[in-house]
Amino acid sequence: MRFLSLSRLTSSLSALPKHTTVSLTLHRHTPTFYRMASNQASVFGLKDSSLIKFQAFIDGKWVDSKSGETIVVTNPATNEELGTVPEMGLAETKEAIDAAAKAFPAWSKTTSKERHDILIKFFQLMKEHHDDLGRLITLENGKPLVEGKGENAYSASFMEWYAEEAVRTYGEQIPASLPGVRNLVIKQPIGVVSILTPWNFPSAMITRKLGAALAAGCTAVIKPPPETPFSSLALAEISKRAGVPDGVINIVTTQKNVIEVGKEMCENKVVRKVSFTGSTPVAKLLYGMAASTLKKVSLEAGGNAPFIVFDDANIDDAVAAAIICKFRGSGQTCVCANRIYVQSTIYAEFASRLAEKVSEFKVGNGLEEGTTHGPLIHARAIEKVVRHVDDAVSKGAQVLVGGKSIPNTSFFIPTVLSDVPADAALNSEETFGPLAALTKFETEEEVIRLANSTDVGLAGYFFSRDIGRVFRVAEKLEVGMVGANTGLISQAVIPFGGVKESGLGREGGPHGIEEYMNTKLIVFGGLGM
Ligand code: SIN
Repeated sequence: MRFLSLSRLTSSLSALPKHTTVSLTLHRHTPTFYRMASNQASVFGLKDSSLIKFQAFIDGKWVDSKSGETIVVTNPATNEELGTVPEMGLAETKEAIDAAAKAFPAWSKTTSKERHDILIKFFQLMKEHHDDLGRLITLENGKPLVEGKGENAYSASFMEWYAEEAVRTYGEQIPASLPGVRNLVIKQPIGVVSILTPWNFPSAMITRKLGAALAAGCTAVIKPPPETPFSSLALAEISKRAGVPDGVINIVTTQKNVIEVGKEMCENKVVRKVSFTGSTPVAKLLYGMAASTLKKVSLEAGGNAPFIVFDDANIDDAVAAAIICKFRGSGQTCVCANRIYVQSTIYAEFASRLAEKVSEFKVGNGLEEGTTHGPLIHARAIEKVVRHVDDAVSKGAQVLVGGKSIPNTSFFIPTVLSDVPADAALNSEETFGPLAALTKFETEEEVIRLANSTDVGLAGYFFSRDIGRVFRVAEKLEVGMVGANTGLISQAVIPFGGVKESGLGREGGPHGIEEYMNTKLIVFGGLGM
């Protein structure tokens, strides 16, 4: 028996000779039945339901998987099925890479002004569909609508920024040290790019890479996460409307075949660059695969951010910043505070003010009015937070607020723990959940040592009004990004990225586009002196 998706079934039927008799059985439990029953764009409640796609995107066409298999996508707040997308594998990945390779010569030869205009159109369309795209992010990721819309604005800002960078990929002329020559340095697009992204920012983690890649003149194959593919497919629809030519952007959706798809995206010789955001173990795996053909890589991997509050800090500002930094996306961001160190003289006051604010949070469905914090993405995420709370408490930490999940849901009550001991698991592992872990410290030297005692180094934050300390601490933290007297650093214009096992390369800002270009030297000889 063969299972066909509705669109493949329709095209197969239309290809049959007239008057052919076809017998169809729809079994209640086949994926086909559910696909036909549930793939209704109206379920999403968007104003423009044509932004919802249940197919992947290769060479400018909406396509199903060859096997007809699908991935079910659910709303983490309600556990209800939103719809399905194709479960693709090696063959479709090769097709997507071939399509990107075929599109590369023409796209790379467009003028920077042409690419600028298309990216600006892309940005404008994302703004025009702000409510829909924000709602879509909330539906598949769970974050509150204000954050879903905030992510769309953030995501669109990468398109705007890179539209403006497209026309500024200047080269250089370097004075020669050989007689009679001139040295010219030019920038050229690197080629086909593989982009692998996480579910915590279903849209922005794509545009941060894609905006730079397109601006540089590269073509792309994108693998979105199985939890949140609809935002990426909506971006593909937007790209079509913006005039991005066929094959320049390709999206392969997969879940169970992720290893073979990821391997192909990293090992295929045609691909010249891999850009990944996700966990450190996966970053290492992909780095190894990409090494086989020495591809350029950008890896934005896990963090374990310290958030330090010195006793000369403005406590109100520090509490407000800790809330944004720790609980944005219910603690599911790579840059969120994982370890909060507070100097002993202000520890009790900071802890009680933070606990009071966190106890006022309203956890719920992100689409409901008043919800401040949504669910975690799935049960596995809950298990890790539970493990970190239980471990810290068993070693002496106190629960000031929360500490529990809501049974049979993906919700974990936002939590503040105090007196977290140094040997707690959360000090060496990223929690990725709504857990603020407080530890007391005495001296600047001690807290710098604690902050740096981890294998990763993405972001770090601290609060102090002593200018000397601000410089000292900012320079000593072993991280790629420092927030000094702020808990929110993310913007399209900054070089985002880490040190140590948090990754390689920088995304965003003027540095981000460099990752998608080769630097070529041309030495002109015989020119005389
Ligand atoms: C991330 O969590 O990886 C990205 C966070 C951000 O861009 O703010």
